[in-house]
Amino acid sequence: MKAYRFDSFDSLDDLKMREETDPRPQRGEVLVRVRAVSLNFRDIAILRGRYPRKALPGFIPVSDAAGDVVEVGEGVKSFQVGDRVIGAFHPRWFSGEAPSTVLSDSYGAENDGWLCELKAVSQEAVVRMPDTLSYEEGSTLPCAGLTAWTALAGPVPIRAGHTVLVQGSGGVSIFALQLARAVGATVIATTSSARKAEQLRALGAAGIVNYAEDPQWGKSVRALTGGRGVDRVVEVGGPGAIAQSLRAVALGGEIASIGFLSTENPGIDFFQLKGSGASFRNIAVGDRAGLLDLNRAVAATGLKPVIDRVFTFDQAKEAFSHLESGAHLGKVVIRCMA
Ligand SMILES: NC(=O)c1ccc[n+]([C@@H]2O[C@H](COP(=O)([O-])OP(=O)(O)OC[C@H]3O[C@@H](n4cnc5c(N)ncnc54)[C@H](OP(=O)(O)O)[C@@H]3O)[C@@H](O)[C@H]2O)c1
Repeated sequence: MKAYRFDSFDSLDDLKMREETDPRPQRGEVLVRVRAVSLNFRDIAILRGRYPRKALPGFIPVSDAAGDVVEVGEGVKSFQVGDRVIGAFHPRWFSGEAPSTVLSDSYGAENDGWLCELKAVSQEAVVRMPDTLSYEEGSTLPCAGLTAWTALAGPVPIRAGHTVLVQGSGGVSIFALQLARAVGATVIATTSSARKAEQLRALGAAGIVNYAEDPQWGKSVRALTGGRGVDRVVEVGGPGAIAQSLRAVALGGEIASIGFLSTENPGIDFFQLKGSGASFRNIAVGDRAGLLDLNRAVAATGLKPVIDRVFTFDQAKEAFSHLESGAHLGKVVIRCMA
């Protein structure tokens, strides 16, 4: 099979494609023919030394994939040849408290990921993908889709009458916009791009604020809610955005802390944090049970993931580069089979 590996993390040119031995499924494993993978900011963060966790070169990158089961190992009961599946971001976090291996199981950072033609994984590390989706669309669910779902679904599930703030037009944010609209919530979006503002409006954002032109964008978001603030912030901006997120959030609302896109880190004012009256929840993508819930929601609502561009397997470097440029809206996908 063909597989990509980062030989080192000096530059994107260290991403090398090679011919490798086909994996075989062991007891309890399925062999997946990978049809599509989707990229996340973490794939760039790992390369650039910005990933806040351990990440070593040498592994096959990329955490998210969709494909077909082409062989099953001894004792596999949950899947059969021909099943269309997606990988779970955390291969061993099934439900409840995260296992102690949740960080070290990380695809592309401490284990081989999915940017390859064939992958043998535990039957517990994949789930069936919704019939309503193509492989390209299915490949976007494991990280971006599930993270947005986790941010909105609990502990107080977002519903009609709530207002959600999404930041920028990347993978997590667009999923959060779509999922929030699917339950009738109002969405306010920020973006640095006038072109993307129109696309965000077309996807159902009721209000848009340009965070690049308006340093007090949190105040502007609050003004759009009539001064009450938003019920949930899908916080992907991180250290440079949190102060404005605290301005935007309603008393009793929640900041679902997800990302670290901003490069500046001015620190947090304790009294602003306390005075916001909001709660702060750290999100780590989500568990397998959440992925199954998301799949049901996607099938039931007919939600179609927004794909910015699909690259071929040979164009993997271009795909990484496109994601890093920030020109995309939604997801960047690599098709692994013709
Ligand atoms: N904790 C978790 O479980 C988890 C899971 C998934 C992702 N994440 C993190 O969440 C973040 C988003 O991931 P992603 O894959 O969705 O990213 P992505 O697709 O690469 O998002 C890129 C977009 O984010 C916007 N952006 C860039 N800098 C920003 C800033 N300072 N403030 C607000 N928006 C900014 C830009 O949108 P515009 O062009 O519209 O301005 C840019 O196009 C990353 O930090 C990622 O590592 C964390």
